[in-house]
Amino acid sequence: MAAITHLFVYPFLFSLFRTSITQDTITPTQSIRDGATLVSAGGSFQLGFFSPGNSKSRYVGIWYTISSEIIVWVANRDAPLNDHSGVLKVTDDGLLVLLNSTNGTVWSSNTSKTAENSVAQLLDTGNLVVKDGNVDEPEKFMWQSFDYPCDTLLAEMKLGWNLVTGLEWYLSSWKSTDDPSQGAFSLRIDLRGYPQFVAMEGSKIKARGGSWNGLSFTGHGVRPTPVFGYEFVLNEKEVYYEFKLRNTSVFSRYVLNPSGVGQRFGWMDRTQSWELFSTFPADRCENYGLCGAYATCNINNSSICACLEGFLPKSPNHWGSVDWSDGCVRRTPLECNDGDGFMKRTGLKLPDTSSSWYDKSMTLQQCERMCLNNCSCTAYASLDVRGGGSGCLLWFGSLIDIRELGEAGQDLYIRMATTELDHLEKKRHSSKKKRVAIIVGLALSVVGMTIVALVSYIWKKNVINQGTKERSSRKDYDNEGGKEDMELPIFDLAAIANATDNFSNNNKLGEGGFGPVYKGTLPEGRDIAVKRLSKNSGQGLNEFKNEVIIIAKLQHRNLVKLLGCCIQENENMLIYEYMPNKSLDSFIFDQANRKLLDWHKRINIIRGVAKGLLYLHEDSRLRIIHRDLKASNILLDSNMNPKISDFGLAKSFGGDQVDSKTNRIIGTYGYMSPEYAVHGQYSIKSDVFSFGVLVLEIVSGKKNRGFCHPDHHLNLLGHAWRLWIEERPMELIDELAGDLFTLSNVLRHIHVGLLCVQQKPTDRPNMSSVVQMLSSESLLPKPRQPGFFTDSFEADPSSVKHTTCSANKFTISLLEAR
Ligand SMILES: *[C@@H]1O[C@H](CO)[C@@H](O)[C@H](O)[C@H]1NC(C)=O
Ligand SMILES: *[C@@H]1O[C@H](CO)[C@@H](O)[C@H](O)[C@H]1NC(C)=O
Ligand SMILES: *[C@@H]1O[C@H](CO)[C@@H](O)[C@H](O)[C@H]1NC(C)=O
Ligand SMILES: *[C@@H]1O[C@H](CO)[C@@H](O)[C@H](O)[C@H]1NC(C)=O
Ligand SMILES: *[C@@H]1O[C@H](CO)[C@@H](O)[C@H](O)[C@H]1NC(C)=O
Ligand SMILES: *[C@@H]1O[C@H](CO)[C@@H](O)[C@H](O)[C@H]1NC(C)=O
Ligand SMILES: *[C@@H]1O[C@H](CO)[C@@H](O)[C@H](O)[C@H]1NC(C)=O
Repeated sequence: MAAITHLFVYPFLFSLFRTSITQDTITPTQSIRDGATLVSAGGSFQLGFFSPGNSKSRYVGIWYTISSEIIVWVANRDAPLNDHSGVLKVTDDGLLVLLNSTNGTVWSSNTSKTAENSVAQLLDTGNLVVKDGNVDEPEKFMWQSFDYPCDTLLAEMKLGWNLVTGLEWYLSSWKSTDDPSQGAFSLRIDLRGYPQFVAMEGSKIKARGGSWNGLSFTGHGVRPTPVFGYEFVLNEKEVYYEFKLRNTSVFSRYVLNPSGVGQRFGWMDRTQSWELFSTFPADRCENYGLCGAYATCNINNSSICACLEGFLPKSPNHWGSVDWSDGCVRRTPLECNDGDGFMKRTGLKLPDTSSSWYDKSMTLQQCERMCLNNCSCTAYASLDVRGGGSGCLLWFGSLIDIRELGEAGQDLYIRMATTELDHLEKKRHSSKKKRVAIIVGLALSVVGMTIVALVSYIWKKNVINQGTKERSSRKDYDNEGGKEDMELPIFDLAAIANATDNFSNNNKLGEGGFGPVYKGTLPEGRDIAVKRLSKNSGQGLNEFKNEVIIIAKLQHRNLVKLLGCCIQENENMLIYEYMPNKSLDSFIFDQANRKLLDWHKRINIIRGVAKGLLYLHEDSRLRIIHRDLKASNILLDSNMNPKISDFGLAKSFGGDQVDSKTNRIIGTYGYMSPEYAVHGQYSIKSDVFSFGVLVLEIVSGKKNRGFCHPDHHLNLLGHAWRLWIEERPMELIDELAGDLFTLSNVLRHIHVGLLCVQQKPTDRPNMSSVVQMLSSESLLPKPRQPGFFTDSFEADPSSVKHTTCSANKFTISLLEAR
């Protein structure tokens, strides 16, 4: 009984000793002990004992000679040995047995056949077989490891079903990289209806590779290559998929990893490593039934699910909140007999075939007739796409899990009521006309906007220059508050320096337009934010005093609270309550943080800002225009309540004064109203405009300025307007915002947002109307095209030209230009 030691550490030894002392078979008189290996005749695979990952347990497995860490099969995956005393044997009856130190059987193969000279052999395909003597016909093998796959599919291994014995060949994941026992995930062929390839977690389908269309699984553009061949066999005896390698010196394996992802790897000779070729599921659209019934998924679209034409969301509320699982329902019910026809859709991954019927020999015409004649048939398609298509595939019941694939997809004929088909036909004709009209309209307005932008650029350049001269000669804050007593605590410089760790960089919260802001902690434990006016900053003493005076008099739960100020030794500082959640822009424009703002929070923020602004405009003693409302000026307290901050540019205005004009246009592009940015006219309605921009940004999670869409060059306002007139405003909604809202409510917010950004100030509601509109169900006026709906109005002429989606400076504030 020759135990073979594992000698093949060096490739040269491998070739040297291969013929002399390696063996690929064991007979009942031999055995494999822990430490010894079998090596397949061509040298590709080895069998022996191993411990996976960090585990100490011992398993019998098969691995590649070129990379012994890749285990392709495990015998005793659910029955590990806990020491090195295991022995693998083949019995006279033709059973493979794994024995432990007390000769107990830990694992065994089984067979229903009998043999005279049983031999176990490791083939060069990676298949471990037990056979009778030298009988090499696979059908006569008494047992083979390829019949009991673990997590890896090798070339020539079957995935599917032996319909005669009922044996299923399927992949099941390891529990973890340390534990090869059977995990929760599996890849298998689902036999219901026309068989299809599915990824499952437990008994639930996670992803569907789809049904075989003659070339590949629908939805997987795998095509035969010089290296690979794919085969799908479907007859009375067997249903299976397998892949073949046309060149046996190439290695490829398909593995289901412990997280349930199928991965194809190929061995790269050049780099001596495995390269990942594909994964399944590859993207969100492959999540089974993500879009529900009668809907399609398109990974390229911003809202990836859409109802099929002629269908409507079943639960509009859920649909709007990007929970699509309820799917869509027919707008017009089927009439069954003569009243139905078919809508052809191209480029699709065909729907779930678990309730389908198929015939390999029918033509497409016969298929159509058959579907039409059975009232429960909902769609049909060619079974095999090769050679122009053949065979018939019929669906009964809902059409689930369709996706748009473009070129790689197939044709599907969907049953519809004839009246609905007529309706769609008419709509298609009229929408073609409408689209032409819109494009012409847009083109004209873009030309218009460009002229406006150029003129205003030239004009503004002069204004800015003037403004610089002006500042030295003119007192710019026009309220008389400076002469009033300020009931504002004065902080001592030393105390502030102490609280902020001497303005250490660690305490710095950010850099505002006028200087850095620090976090501090007062001796009694209260957290504060200190805005330190930099000595050579743009904010002159004017703006500083302006801010102190204005904010000292304001008290509202949605305005940031000024605790005091410090004017000492050339230092001008404002001390505010500290806002632990920083500013709104760090949430709504941040991929990770956006998820934290669900709809309740977003709506609460919109309401809060509206109330704060209403207070400024109408309820406060001073009546104030903020002039620089933007996401970064909305701070959030620990409960995510919004507080408007930064009153550096705010203006108070008299009781009956409606608007005012300035030669100094300051604020932030993207939020500025047209009349202010172009003519310097500001009023409470310019704040309303900024508020509208903010609402649309909060709803969409996107910035107005620097907004970018592959289909057009509109900014967020233009995009929102476009979706609005195309009657699909839902697509504006940030899909990361969760679903705690009703659709009508969010659409109402978009509606109000659009009303606030109207071109003409008089068309915009005032803040008291806004607050009322947001909290009632009243009928709202129709919005018109917003002002500044393209981004082409820019301070910087070089960016006027920008047409690409790449690097934009998002919020260039003209403050810096002063
Ligand atoms: C296990 O079987 C071998 C061979 O049949 C024998 O030599 C050995 O003594 C047995 N060990 C135990 C613990 O029974
Ligand atoms: C060996 O295996 C047998 C049967 O599974 C078991 O009863 C016995 O406890 C095992 N012995 C050791 C040392 O693990
Ligand atoms: C062999 O064992 C497997 C797994 O225990 C079982 O599913 C299968 O039915 C058995 N086959 C025969 C022929 O006994
Ligand atoms: C098989 O692949 C090897 C290595 O990539 C290559 O050298 C050889 O020419 C290939 N053989 C055939 C028949 O394509
Ligand atoms: C994706 O966008 C295209 C082009 O706008 C549209 O025709 C298609 O219906 C959309 N599909 C989905 C699933 O949203
Ligand atoms: C329609 O097809 C279903 C499913 O194949 C079948 O059960 C039913 O008998 C058919 N009805 C008619 C009228 O052929
Ligand atoms: C998605 O976009 C890619 C790249 O533009 C394109 O190749 C593919 O066909 C598109 N897919 C669909 C379904 O539109």
